[in-house]
Amino acid sequence: MISVTTTTIASSKNDTLVVFVWEGVSPEKSLPKALQGKATELCSNELFTGKRGEKRLMCVADSSLAKKVLFVGLGNKREFSLSLFRSLVGDVYKYILGLKLSTVSFFVGESLGTHVSIHDCASIIATKARLASYLFDKYKTKKKNDTVRIKKVVIVSPRAQSIKIIQLAINRATIIADAVNNARDLINEPPNKMTPQDFARRVLRDARRVRVPCKQLDLPAIIKEKMGGLLAVAQGSNNKPVFLILHYKPTQKKKKTICLVGKGICFDSGGISLKSGSDLMCMKYDMAGGAVCAYTVLAAAQLKIPHEVIGLIPLCENVPDGTAYRPGDIITMASGSTVEVLNTDAEGRIILADALNFSARYKPDVVVDMATLTGAVKVCFGDKAAALLGNNERLMMSLQQIGEEVGERLWPLPLWEEYQDDLKSDAADMKNVGFKGAGTICGAKFLSNFIPKTAWAHIDIASVSWEEEGKPFIPKGASGFGVRLLVHYLLALK
Ligand code: BES
Ligand code: MN
Ligand code: ZN
Repeated sequence: MISVTTTTIASSKNDTLVVFVWEGVSPEKSLPKALQGKATELCSNELFTGKRGEKRLMCVADSSLAKKVLFVGLGNKREFSLSLFRSLVGDVYKYILGLKLSTVSFFVGESLGTHVSIHDCASIIATKARLASYLFDKYKTKKKNDTVRIKKVVIVSPRAQSIKIIQLAINRATIIADAVNNARDLINEPPNKMTPQDFARRVLRDARRVRVPCKQLDLPAIIKEKMGGLLAVAQGSNNKPVFLILHYKPTQKKKKTICLVGKGICFDSGGISLKSGSDLMCMKYDMAGGAVCAYTVLAAAQLKIPHEVIGLIPLCENVPDGTAYRPGDIITMASGSTVEVLNTDAEGRIILADALNFSARYKPDVVVDMATLTGAVKVCFGDKAAALLGNNERLMMSLQQIGEEVGERLWPLPLWEEYQDDLKSDAADMKNVGFKGAGTICGAKFLSNFIPKTAWAHIDIASVSWEEEGKPFIPKGASGFGVRLLVHYLLALK
């Protein structure tokens, strides 16, 4: 695993030191004092303008402090933002890896701190490093060891006073990035190794490590809770369902109570309404919402967030069998209302409905659910955003804003009352699918029938949970999308 440390320039022995330069400011002046006048070629004809993303690698005359300096342009001060800095740091790692280097240092000086806080800088540098170093190769009997990865990152500060702040930021970033990577680990496991029981065992183990009470409801308890939705979806599989409850209570007097609900379908074949070919292949990631929800609660505990945070995760498999639920079945949900199942592949909303109903007993101020609910969200946004729906403008606005800041984009869709018409059933209170398009909205509309009277947001992450090609900071496979969003939401919550 990568380590991120902090030091002053005098005590650092760096190979490559990254130095950020504002547009229009001389690179020379952006250097740490000790290096000024020592970066060769600086006075060459080529001018370094500091345009955003511009890079220049230079040797250092006196190599006792650093062998090379990599100047990176920050661009215009007025156009600068945190997300810009985030993508710049991303670029830098890509560049460093391109040079086949695995260690790098960043100089976080005063001038950078005028537009981004030193804390935010350090946290972005540390987070990106750990997210980029993630690798899921436990089932490879021959491990590849020729790929270069970032192994060590040092953040260099000119001021001793800043070191404490930077160290704090690194610690926090490490907790959050590890939560993302832990969630990725669960999601990447194949469905034969990540049954509902396996999921529960893993989360219980990790919860114990950070002392978060975690309760596992098994079949008898689920029956006792009358969770007809979860029971119906689960009934076709030999792997029994689990309802997982994580409950973090702050030691100080709590400010708010937040319920996070995550879809935990460990494998979604569609059931009797069987999916076809390629759609079936990656349906192990249908528990991404559950994994994200679990590790968000654990990160919240490690960060000592002053709110009570409850994670509710209904877990089961959706498979066809003689005992499986059928299209046409009418089931009675935990809330008491009845649902006519017209498509067994719209199973996520059914298990989430029971979990949302369960959340009412905590009298939460806010409920947020995360789910790989509909393929339609990909049609909407490709892999560029998750869909955001809900009943509370303020909650949605703040989630969207934080998503923008952390680089996990959300985009709103409406939940107009008219969509409910499409869910009307002739035989039961409602059906589980509409037939007039707007799949993502109808899925959320269905859920809205089961939420307690609280501020609620639904995030459909089917578009962003699985990375098809691999990006520098999202290796191929599970992205862990949502952990950083929700943790930062909780951190910002008053
Ligand atoms: N888990 C799927 C949604 C999904 C699709 C996630 C593709 C990731 C990638 C969900 O359970 C599902 O099958 N939804 C159906 C709903 C439809 C039957 C109304 C869908 O989107 O096709
Ligand atoms: Mn499905
Ligand atoms: Zn599903």
